[in-house]
Order: sequence, then C-alpha cells, then structure tokens
Amino acid sequence: MHNTIAERVASAQSALGQFKTSQTVKLIAVSKTKPSSDIEQAYAAGQRHFGENYVQELVGKAQALNHLTDIVWHFIGPIQSNKTRDIARFARVVHSVDRLKIAERLSAQRPADLPPLQVLVQVNISDEDSKSGVPPSDALALADAIAQLPNLQLVGLMAVPAPAIDGDNSHAFAQMQQLSTQLQQKYANAQELSMGMSDDWQQAVEFGATMIRLGTAIFGARNYAHE
Ligand SMILES: Cc1ncc(COP(=O)(O)O)c(C=O)c1O
Repeated sequence: MHNTIAERVASAQSALGQFKTSQTVKLIAVSKTKPSSDIEQAYAAGQRHFGENYVQELVGKAQALNHLTDIVWHFIGPIQSNKTRDIARFARVVHSVDRLKIAERLSAQRPADLPPLQVLVQVNISDEDSKSGVPPSDALALADAIAQLPNLQLVGLMAVPAPAIDGDNSHAFAQMQQLSTQLQQKYANAQELSMGMSDDWQQAVEFGATMIRLGTAIFGARNYAHE
C-alpha cells in the first residue's frame, strides 16, 4: 500500500513511466478540497502540475504557495463568467473552456505581464445534461474563435466521460482522439488531450491522452464536506 502522498506521487509517476506511449504524458495532481500542506508534500516528491476545480481554492492555494514558483496551476472546473478574472490571473492552463464568452473574458483579463493563458476546449463527449462542455460537433468552431483571441493560446481538448458501468470508456476516448486529430490538422500545436482520471487513466493514455488528471490516486478520497 502507498500510504503517504509522496509515495503515491512516486508510484503514479512510475506507473506512467512504464506505460509504452508515443506521446509524452503529463500527470496533473487534482488537489480539489485538499489543503496546501498536501500540495507541499506532493511538491516535495517532485510533482509540479496541480489541478483545481473551484476558483476560491485556486486563489487561496496559489497565494499560500507562491514561494513555490515553478508550480503550474491548471483550472479544470466549470467556469462562471464572474470568476474569470481570478482564473486569468492565477492559472497557467485552463482545461474547461466551453463557451466563447468565457474565452473572451479570459483573454481580456489575462494580465499583460504574464504569457498567454493556455486553453483547452472542454467537450461534453458523453452528451450528459449535467456536464460542462461543448457538443463534439461544436468543438472545432469554438477552437477557431479561441485561436483568434490575443491573450489565449489554444493547446487542445479536454473531456470528462460519463462513468462507464463496466469501466470501459474506450468509445468516448476514441471519439476524443479523433476530434483531437481533426483539431491538429488545422492547429498543429494544439496537441494536448486532457482525459483520464484515477480509475481510467491507463485506457485514456492508450487513446492518446497527453494530460491525465489524478485526484484520489494521489491525495486519497476527497472530503466532500468542502463542496
Ligand atoms: C475535471 C476533473 N478531473 C479529474 C478529477 C480527479 O478525479 P479522480 O479523483 O477520480 O482521479 C476530478 C475530480 O473531481 C475532476 O473534477
């Protein structure tokens, strides 16, 4: 058993390292509901990319840990338009852009002294009413619009497939891989494909994921009292 956060980071990085892939895969440690002290433990074990779902948590932790200057903050949660200013300031990468209005605000509010905000288009790949994301058929049009905005850099696509009853998300992952190939035909640098979580990351990587988002596997079960 891997009981400490440091052990779990090492174990996840090692499992990922042993996986044969043609693409480079980045591990994003999803620290939602977890305290800054947990992030510091993961950082000490070499983890640098962290994902947050709630703006307030992103801001609080980014400020508390601003001495760790090489942490890369990823925002991966639903975005309300009144929260874009903080995301534009504190995140380096935003995975969950699913409407033009949000993209326009992020571009307008990105501080001038920071590099362009890296943006992924979130796709509602399982067509769930409750999920954020554009329908697959709208993803490329939104990508086109984002590519025009001055302070954003379009880097790829993200999805959170519906939990598969039999644990098999291959259909959704394959669709995302296809969409990503289409996107790259027009935007060769938009190569990121953010998909795969603690229970299904291996399958996501088989279908071309370049960013996997692991919460439970790194930090243990979440404390939903915070949500
Ligand atoms: C968008 C997103 N990605 C990844 C995760 C991490 O999930 P898991 O704990 O299953 O690894 C979460 C957790 O809520 C999430 O909301």
